[in-house]
Amino acid sequence: MSILACPKCHEPLEIEGKTCKCINNHCYDIARQGYMNLLLNPDKASNNPGDSKESLIARKAYLDKGYYDPILFEVVNEIKKKEGPLNILDLGCGEGYYTYRMKQILGDENTYCGLDISKLAVRMATQYDKSIHWIVGNSKNIPVLDHSMDVITAMFTVVNQEELARCIKEDGYIIHVTANRDHLIEIKHLIYDEVKTKSDKYIRLPFNVLESHDFKKTISIKNREDALNLLKMTPHYYHIKKEKRDVLDTLEALDVTIDVKITVYRP
Ligand SMILES: C[S@@+](CC[C@H](N)C(=O)[O-])C[C@H]1O[C@@H](n2cnc3c(N)ncnc32)[C@H](O)[C@@H]1O
Ligand SMILES: [Zn+2]
Repeated sequence: MSILACPKCHEPLEIEGKTCKCINNHCYDIARQGYMNLLLNPDKASNNPGDSKESLIARKAYLDKGYYDPILFEVVNEIKKKEGPLNILDLGCGEGYYTYRMKQILGDENTYCGLDISKLAVRMATQYDKSIHWIVGNSKNIPVLDHSMDVITAMFTVVNQEELARCIKEDGYIIHVTANRDHLIEIKHLIYDEVKTKSDKYIRLPFNVLESHDFKKTISIKNREDALNLLKMTPHYYHIKKEKRDVLDTLEALDVTIDVKITVYRP
């Protein structure tokens, strides 16, 4: 049974060879690498097409070393509270590390979808596992059927309330991971003269909070290469002022703080 929906008319999408199609004959390509391109042209034009290639490669190299697995385990522990088989959608999946690892840990009985607006990121994701539904698409127009998802994860990415409400099952979990004030505070101190703190009150979603907790931990980045990758995968790298450039030359192994909020919502 299809869980995918046409981004134009929201009718179910059926796979036919190298394309997928709805009953209204809207047709989308399945790329050679195995991902589906369900991003509409107007969405491409009006949205940030995603992170730069440099940043994606850095994030993949960093995440592949397992540095952020403690965050992954927090999310997986929440998903484990639900009885399977589950339809799981990872919104803004980037280059697919977390989606892939969720499947590795939680197993094949569930159906996994990873969606990102960046074609480049999704193409990288296909290298992990071809059996995940990798989708180039927009979180503001999610190409899945109404109330088809048991779990939607959104890790460090933009969300759209209406679309979350439409796609999640009545008893489903929306797992939202956001950065807290001290997240990567050491990196911020390296780069900025003055570190601004912002309140998290804007990122509360208007759903019932089933569970919410902060997760804080210090991790040790082992060497210069990994530290540079961490820096490059954050927006901070692109904000380094000229006079702070020497930070990059002297960067070495360092301890950094992970400080995130994991909130499980029910619609
Ligand atoms: C900071 S990255 C996080 C990636 C991954 N979840 C992680 O934690 O490593 C944010 C991701 O959201 C994606 N993104 C931004 N706007 C989007 C949208 N409207 N729809 C889908 N994905 C979007 C970006 O392309 C990027 O891959
Ligand atoms: Zn259609």
